[in-house]
Amino acid sequence: MPRNFYIKTMGCQMNDYDSDYLAQFLVNKGFSSVNTPENADLILINTCAVRAKPEQKAYSFLGRMSSIKKGNPNLTIGMVGCLAQLKGPELLKRFPQLDLVIGPRELGRFQEIFEKIDRNSGKFVATSLDLAPPQPAPCKGYFHKRITGHVAIMEGCNNFCSYCIVPYVRGREISRSPDEIIAEAENLLSEGMREITLLGQNVNSYLWEGEKTKWSFPALLHELSRLDGLLRLRFTTSHPKDLSDDLIHSFLYIKNLCHHIHLPFQAGSNRILKLMKRGYTREKYLELIDKLRKNIPDIAITSDVMVGFPGESNEDFELTLDLIRDVEFDSLFSFKYSDRKGTFAERMDGKIDKTVKSSRLNILQDLQKEITLKKNKALEGRHLEVLVEGPSKREGQLTGRTASHKVVNFNSNNSRIGNLHTVTIKHSFLNSLWGEVLE
Ligand code: 5AD
Ligand code: SF4
Repeated sequence: MPRNFYIKTMGCQMNDYDSDYLAQFLVNKGFSSVNTPENADLILINTCAVRAKPEQKAYSFLGRMSSIKKGNPNLTIGMVGCLAQLKGPELLKRFPQLDLVIGPRELGRFQEIFEKIDRNSGKFVATSLDLAPPQPAPCKGYFHKRITGHVAIMEGCNNFCSYCIVPYVRGREISRSPDEIIAEAENLLSEGMREITLLGQNVNSYLWEGEKTKWSFPALLHELSRLDGLLRLRFTTSHPKDLSDDLIHSFLYIKNLCHHIHLPFQAGSNRILKLMKRGYTREKYLELIDKLRKNIPDIAITSDVMVGFPGESNEDFELTLDLIRDVEFDSLFSFKYSDRKGTFAERMDGKIDKTVKSSRLNILQDLQKEITLKKNKALEGRHLEVLVEGPSKREGQLTGRTASHKVVNFNSNNSRIGNLHTVTIKHSFLNSLWGEVLE
């Protein structure tokens, strides 16, 4: 009997990482991964709950999977991830074809859950938030051909920004032990990976207190950076309120740490930042940017921002635009505020009209496009180091990324996937650069 699985992943890099965890587990159990859900015996939908849009996407995908099950009653369908955590058993009522609901903190119990699936012992809901993140069981060959990948170093968030559902669905902050993290990174490197991004909702609050030793985030970075074969190290996401000087200095003395930081600012008005409970002011954020650029002049800075938070006036929005003009981010992820049930912001007055939110988002995105293009154009003629990740969509070209995380496509006869090459940038576009390798 072939046993096939299909995993649909929505949302952030942490979900990509969790899906890899599940896939490795299933491959170790003798399952094969298939590309179409119609051929699967087990479908897992790894969901996101951070905004209304991904939530709707998850329901509509689940609806389509449910109709496949009508023609194949042996199919098992599971919803995992943040939306599974948020909705719990209610999902089973709403979607009778659904068999499993597993929150992100329960993935370590997948062995037990898997045995239940195998015994066909009914429906299963697992949404405890107290468990530690699991240690993946290495699966030989799984990461073969991947040049870049992730290692989670911590999970959860203690910040409770007023709009955010993450603390409710990923639980409180918990850091993984350096031993586990190093072992996982070593396994990835032994499979041929060359770049590792450390993941956490708030990586700069990483803290491991062992019996004798205490590990801060910079100490962990330093240790990991020395692993054999690691060409590049990155991390995401950082919170402006606890970006330490030590971390800033890490960029200077850790040679393979990419000069890129993702530092969400969310809003440019102090009044809104306070309502968001972000724990910093506009001035403090700008000071940090200054400090980063003074210490590391070539650092790329990217960010997240939201428009239409409850009570956001035109003046508040103008302050957000003003901050964007001032900082000139390399790129920016921008969102319309969306109510998340149970958060503080959901109960706030002054909700902003849909059309106002859309028009603010358009204005903001147009501004950022100009900035991104201007910054990319300034790279024309420069020689940039690119980690080659594989063939590009265009026949005969290769693709990779700069340390600043910009995509570069290029022609080359002698470049090898997984190597660093210096590329001369010939043309810059909004979402990518094009160049030629200095052979
Ligand atoms: N509405 C809109 N955007 C949100 N984000 C988080 N919660 C919400 C929400 N309720 C955005 C923030 C965060 C990114 C991951 O998603 O900008 O940094
Ligand atoms: Fe959400 Fe704020 Fe935590 Fe980020 S820091 S996950 S925005 S609560």
